Amino acid sequence: MSSDNVHDHAKAAVGDPDREDVTDRLRVDGVSLELSGVKILHDVSLAVEPGQTVGLLGANGSGKSSLLNVVSGYYKPTAGAVFISGRDIASCGPARIAAHRVGRSFQSIGKMSDLTVLENVMLGLEPVWRSSSIAAVLGLPSSRRAEADARLQASTIIDEFDLGGYEHKLLSACPYGVRKVADLLRSMVSKPKLLLLDEPTSGVSMEDRAGILELIRAWAARTGCSTVVVDHDIEFVTSLADSLVALVGGSVAAAGGSAEVLGNEDVIATFLGTGKR
Ligand SMILES: Nc1ncnc2c1ncn2[C@@H]1O[C@H](COP(=O)(O)OP(=O)(O)OP(=O)(O)O)[C@@H](O)[C@H]1O
Ligand SMILES: [Mg+2]
Repeated sequence: MSSDNVHDHAKAAVGDPDREDVTDRLRVDGVSLELSGVKILHDVSLAVEPGQTVGLLGANGSGKSSLLNVVSGYYKPTAGAVFISGRDIASCGPARIAAHRVGRSFQSIGKMSDLTVLENVMLGLEPVWRSSSIAAVLGLPSSRRAEADARLQASTIIDEFDLGGYEHKLLSACPYGVRKVADLLRSMVSKPKLLLLDEPTSGVSMEDRAGILELIRAWAARTGCSTVVVDHDIEFVTSLADSLVALVGGSVAAAGGSAEVLGNEDVIATFLGTGKR
C-alpha cells in the first residue's frame, strides 16, 4: 500500500485532519476505562477546538496518561467514544491514528536510548512512510526516496530547535533534557493536527523547562495544531493552555478557565492541597 493510500485510508477511518469546519479537533464523550478489572476512568468528557490547547491536570494515578492512551488508540474504552476531526476512532489502532497526524509524546522516554536523536525523530514519520508500505519491505526506490525525505524533515526540525549538535548522538549519550526535546520533536515532525503531550517537562531542569515551553508555544503558533498537555507543573500548563481539565480519581472534577479549575474544592483537596506541584 502506498503512503498516499494509507493517508486516504486513515482519512476515511478517522476523519480529515485538514477539515477546518470541525467544531472540535478532539472530542472525548463519556469515556470510561477498566483495565484488569480496575476502574481507571469514569465518564470523562472533554473537547479541544482547532488551534486550542487544553491542559490536563491531576494527581499521580488520576488517569491522565490512560486518557491519552485511549485517545491515541493504545487502550479501548469500555464505554463512551472519542472523535478526532469529527470521526469516531473506535475501530482504529495506534498506527492508524498516528498516520492521521495525531502526535504523541511519552512520559517515560527510557526505552529509546539505542537510537540516535535523528533516528528517534524519524520514528515520528514512520506511520506515514514505512509501516504500511510494501515498497519499504521490498526496498523499492520509492521507499528509499520516502526514507530520504523523512531523514531531511527530521534533520530540519532538529536544526531548527537547536539540537543539531546531538543529531547523530545516541539518545543514551545525551543529557536528559535533550532526550525529552528529541521525544517532543518526534511527536511533532509529522506536523500533527492534534498533539498529545504527556509530561514534557518531567525531570528536566528549570532552564530546559523554559526552552520546552517556548518550543511548544512556537510550534502551536506556527502550525495551528490542537494540543492536550499533561504536566504536574501547573504554572507551565496554565501558561500554555486556553482551558484546563482536572481529573480526580479518573473523573473530571473541574473544567474551564484556570481560576475556576484551580479554585475547585475537590481539585484543591486532592491535588493542589497535597503540596504536589
Ligand atoms: N495497563 C494497566 N493495567 C492496570 N492498571 C493500570 C494500567 N495502566 C494504568 N493503570 C492504573 O490506572 C491508574 C491511572 O494511571 P495513569 O498512569 O493513567 O495515571 P496518571 O494520572 O498518568 O499518573 P502520573 O501522574 O503518575 O503519570 C493508576 O492507578 C494505574 O496504576
Ligand atoms: Mg501519567
